[in-house]
Amino acid sequence: MKNYKCRVCNIEIKELMSFGKMPIANAFVKNKNDDQYLFNLKIGFCEKCFTFQVLEIPEAKKMFNNNYAYLASTSQVMKNHWKELGDKLIREKKLEKSSFVVEVGSNDGIFLENISKKEIPHLGVDASKNVCDIAEKKGVKTLNGFFGISIADEIVSKHGKADIILSTNTMHHIEDINNVAEGMSKLIKDDGIIVTEDPSLVEMIKKNSYDQIYAEHMYIWSLASMNSLFNKFNLEVFDIENNNFHGGCSRYFIGKKNKRKISQNVIAHEKLETKIGINKISTYRKFIENVELSKKKLNQLINKIKNEGKKIVGYGAPAKSTTVLNYCGLNYEAIDVIYDNSATKINKYTPGKSLIKINNSSDFEKELSEYCVLFAWNHKDEILNKEKQYSKKGGKWIIPVDGIEII
Ligand code: TMP
Ligand code: ZN
Repeated sequence: MKNYKCRVCNIEIKELMSFGKMPIANAFVKNKNDDQYLFNLKIGFCEKCFTFQVLEIPEAKKMFNNNYAYLASTSQVMKNHWKELGDKLIREKKLEKSSFVVEVGSNDGIFLENISKKEIPHLGVDASKNVCDIAEKKGVKTLNGFFGISIADEIVSKHGKADIILSTNTMHHIEDINNVAEGMSKLIKDDGIIVTEDPSLVEMIKKNSYDQIYAEHMYIWSLASMNSLFNKFNLEVFDIENNNFHGGCSRYFIGKKNKRKISQNVIAHEKLETKIGINKISTYRKFIENVELSKKKLNQLINKIKNEGKKIVGYGAPAKSTTVLNYCGLNYEAIDVIYDNSATKINKYTPGKSLIKINNSSDFEKELSEYCVLFAWNHKDEILNKEKQYSKKGGKWIIPVDGIEII
């Protein structure tokens, strides 16, 4: 087996598991026989800095380009979530017209639009041009590019240093993560706060949600690994909040070292990580066993339903579904169609070998099925509430990861 270098601390790490050949998770295809880029999705864990990571990464341009399919604003619940964070930061940090807020990975402006509405100076940075254009139309000032030391220097010279740097669901997207953390350290004011929010490694291990792993999610961060990364640049996590979004996320509040008291939440979360064994390689060996078991269970269930002659469709074509479909070997023969509300995905096909047609979720009610795989399981409450009629008519939902729950 090949050895790899940890992307945070550069020591050699071993491959733990391969998910096999995978497409880029968000590379939805226009025609079934279009050429697709495939790579080996392998994972590893660094026992020195505790970073859980994908080992072979496709070129960034292949993942983040002019037709990035993920539009954050497709979920009203997420819109409310980011508005709440904006309001909290405005209140607690007393943000006003002389403040400066930077967001790294600003997507379609879902967070900054509320900052912009309050006329607080801001700048979003995003690598995908199409999402930058959407944000600009909402009045969000956006720079199209890959954030790092050079963009940070450019921002400091043009606008000065930032009071807040926000980065949500982005820290796991960046191959040269040291460059980003160093860029943030140069851009943040001495008393400024960096806020990052990403899927939590604790939650992934607890829920066995291996579908968090794909090319664009090249790290699943923990408190321990976040601190390893930021400590290198004289920064530290001083507070943490956990939530259930995106299948369970941690929000880290990071500031200059030794400037603030470390919160009780941080101490409690450190204890939780120790209890779960987040820094031990044996935890990941057990996780892999659970992943393999989950794949087996999903295949058994789908085969059983198909043998009964029943129809299975899917709901939501998140990036996560690319991992589940391709790792479990499920395609258009197993799942007739997937319903989604993203304009960037409708009428395309799921990537890799799965090639399942994506229809507008507004047609879900019209085209009845007995079973529906809820690939967007993290939006369960919002979707089940929207599609109440389906359950009333006897339709069953399948949660495709962990123990494969039927609702
Ligand atoms: P996410 O888990 O990465 O946020 O992706 C969720 C996917 O599910 C995204 O493609 C949009 C889709 N979706 C719907 O189709 N209907 C909905 O009500 C919600 C919340 C999401
Ligand atoms: Zn490392």
